[in-house]
Amino acid sequence: MSAQVTIIGASGRVGSLVTREVLRRGLTARVLVRDRSRLSPDLAANPRLQTTVGQIDDPSAMRTALAGADAAIVTVGVRYRRNHPWGGVDGRHDVVPAAIRTLLTVADSDTYVVLLSAFGVRESWRHLPLIAKMIIRTSSLSVGYAGLAEAEDLLDGSNQPHALVRAVTLTDGPATGGPVDASGRQLRGNPRVSRADLAVFLVDTALSGAGGRASTERSRRVLVAAGR
Ligand SMILES: NC(=O)c1ccc[n+]([C@@H]2O[C@H](COP(=O)([O-])OP(=O)(O)OC[C@H]3O[C@@H](n4cnc5c(N)ncnc54)[C@H](OP(=O)(O)O)[C@@H]3O)[C@@H](O)[C@H]2O)c1
Repeated sequence: MSAQVTIIGASGRVGSLVTREVLRRGLTARVLVRDRSRLSPDLAANPRLQTTVGQIDDPSAMRTALAGADAAIVTVGVRYRRNHPWGGVDGRHDVVPAAIRTLLTVADSDTYVVLLSAFGVRESWRHLPLIAKMIIRTSSLSVGYAGLAEAEDLLDGSNQPHALVRAVTLTDGPATGGPVDASGRQLRGNPRVSRADLAVFLVDTALSGAGGRASTERSRRVLVAAGR
C-alpha cells in the first residue's frame, strides 16, 4: 500500500519514532513542527520527509501538512518543566485540543485521524488505580489530561473518522514486537508500554483506517499496554 501519513508532534519522543516507522515502511511522511531544529537530526536530514514549519493553530500550515494525507497521527502533548509532572507546564496548556481543532477545520473528510491519548481519560478514568488518580489530580498531569479529554470530545463530536489510542505509562524501552492492544483487558498496578512498540501500533492503526477501511467504525477507542 502506498499511503501518505502526516505526523503532528514529530519532534517529540513518540512522534519521532512514528515518523521513522512511516519512512521505514516506504510510505510518504509529512510533518508539521513549530521549529525545524527540534526535529531529530536523522529526520531533518531525510530527503523523503516533507516538513512544514508553523504553529499548531495555523490553519494554512496545517492544510499544507495535511495535503493528500490518507491518515494523520497526532502525538503532541503538553511539555512539563524539567520533564517532571510537578514542574509546571512549559508553554501552552491546550496544545492537543488546539491541534485537533485546527486539523478539523482543514482536513479532508476521509483523512483518518489517530490521536495519542492516555489511559484514564474520560470513561477510562474509573479503571485507573487510586494512586494514579491521586498523582494526576495533584500534579500538572491534570492539565495534560484535561487537554486530551477536550481533544477526544472534539473528534467524537466531528464527522472525521478517527481512533483514540489511550496509552498507559510510556517507557523508552526497546521495541519488543509484542502485542499492545489491551482493549477490554483488566490492567493492574502501573502498566507500561514502550514508545517504540506504541509507535508501530499507531502506524498500524492509521493504515488500518486509511482509505475508508474503518468506515463501519468511524470512532474507535483502543487501550494500549504491553503484554497479554
Ligand atoms: N508519558 C506518558 O507516560 C504518557 C502516557 C500516555 C499518553 N501520553 C501522551 O503522549 C504524548 C506524547 O508523549 P511524548 O513522550 O512523545 O512527549 P514529548 O516528547 O514531550 O513530545 C511532545 C510533542 O508535543 C509538541 N508540543 C508541545 N507543545 C507544543 C506547542 N505549543 N506547539 C507545538 N507543538 C507542541 C512538542 O513539540 P516541540 O518539540 O516543538 O516542543 C513535541 O513534538 C504526551 O504528551 C501525552 O499526551 C503520555
